Amino acid sequence: MYGAGTNFMMLTRRKFAVGCGAFAASGIFGAPLGFTDPAPEGTHLPIPMLIDAAKQGNAAHLKAMSGRHAFIEGKPTGTYGYSAPVLGPVLRVRRGDEVQVTVENALNTATTVHWHGLLAPGYNDGGPQQLIQPNDIWRPVLKINQPAATLWFHPHPHHDTARQIYMGLTGIIIIDDGSDARLDLPRTYGVDDLPIILQDRSIESDGSIGYDNNDLNALEIAYGARGDTIVVNGAIAPTAKVPAGLVRLRLLNAANAQNFDLRFKDRRTFHVIASDGGFLTAPVPVTQLMISPAERFEILVDFSDGKAVALETGPDKEMGEFGRVAPDGSADYVAVMQFQPTPAMPPLVKRVPNRLIEHATPNATSVVRRRQFVLDSGLCASRAQASAHAMPALIGINGKPFDIGRIDFETKLGTTEIWEITSIGMAHPFHVHGALFRIMSIEGAPPPVHLTGWKDTVLVEDKAELLIAFNQPATREHPFMYHCHILEHEEAGLMGQYICS
Ligand code: C2O
Ligand code: CU
Repeated sequence: MYGAGTNFMMLTRRKFAVGCGAFAASGIFGAPLGFTDPAPEGTHLPIPMLIDAAKQGNAAHLKAMSGRHAFIEGKPTGTYGYSAPVLGPVLRVRRGDEVQVTVENALNTATTVHWHGLLAPGYNDGGPQQLIQPNDIWRPVLKINQPAATLWFHPHPHHDTARQIYMGLTGIIIIDDGSDARLDLPRTYGVDDLPIILQDRSIESDGSIGYDNNDLNALEIAYGARGDTIVVNGAIAPTAKVPAGLVRLRLLNAANAQNFDLRFKDRRTFHVIASDGGFLTAPVPVTQLMISPAERFEILVDFSDGKAVALETGPDKEMGEFGRVAPDGSADYVAVMQFQPTPAMPPLVKRVPNRLIEHATPNATSVVRRRQFVLDSGLCASRAQASAHAMPALIGINGKPFDIGRIDFETKLGTTEIWEITSIGMAHPFHVHGALFRIMSIEGAPPPVHLTGWKDTVLVEDKAELLIAFNQPATREHPFMYHCHILEHEEAGLMGQYICS
């Protein structure tokens, strides 16, 4: 995909014509990319190692390292991971604890570790200002003081974030505040409580993935890096063996740019119980769920019928013709992974609770100010499709591309603001560090119920109004970032920084 002389148009053609054929020809998969019921003898869903901080003296060690990982069996390739060849551990922390994290950089390049969604002061946030040089160690003490939620961690060094995440640097954080037990939610890690890291990769026939910062063309910048193969926890079309009861999936979209439009093949109803910032007030029944880069949703799926079922994704609507994922280029859904209920695993939880938690609704009358953010990716879709070589005009927020030497504005600790986000060019997943928000309106309407909880990332197609609360300090030296989470947009300038005191 990023080899010399290739471009996005070629990738797209290859994606439909050659890429998937290569998998079929390799004989590893019975069908290209997606597959049909029943589950083929595929890979088991890899379950990242769990670090339960409380069980090791509230300390955790993460080593950013390079490794080798075989996306295609027998064809390992160079990747990055945290204390693992690819991806990283799930770090479980308890509300109220102080966790001493040791981050060791064993890469041959500078990195940072950003705790995406964690409410922590700027000096612990791991933004682009906090580079950890090769062989250096960073030791933040993270004070966990927010409700139960699924967060994640990833690198944030400016001009190398997209590549480092693409190479595999992604891990999950679970904050536990006791509500799992109180609500009797599925909570047995790796059994009925599964982390599901969704990504797409362009995998060459020799098994390699590659990302060359110096060889991105205008279309890759305009649309972000997208691959022809969906990977879940680092595996292609894996199968999870699950109890024939309720199973909780902690979904994370850790793709550079791709939106996943998820549903089960049999269109079963499932319940969304949490979004980025934690639990919703009550489980929300849905049959379809869109998840954009950096968003998390926790869902409960009922497998008590004992039937195997595929989780599938549809075309990325935000991408038009380019968003199609089916091998034949059609608008069809393709399987992301398979679930196989097994009698050998007795169901631990059977009932979806009626209520989850109460939210203190932020008071819109205490809003101290409104700010406008116009996210412009500099290239309208039709222009982008017309030419692979037209350089994007201006990529920036409010007409300004990112400048690490500029603080864009200042907020007051303890206050609430309304942020109006406008997307130009295409839908942008907007993310803020150091604060959580509630969506007041999106695309001119009240948000759908599953988007009414606390969030840190929102996909804005046209316009959104966010009620955002500032409770964490950030100084000039260590400001908070806000940006589009299409990583190539972020790198190209769709980012800004604010301070809070
Ligand atoms: Cu997921 Cu600025 O971060
Ligand atoms: Cu964007």
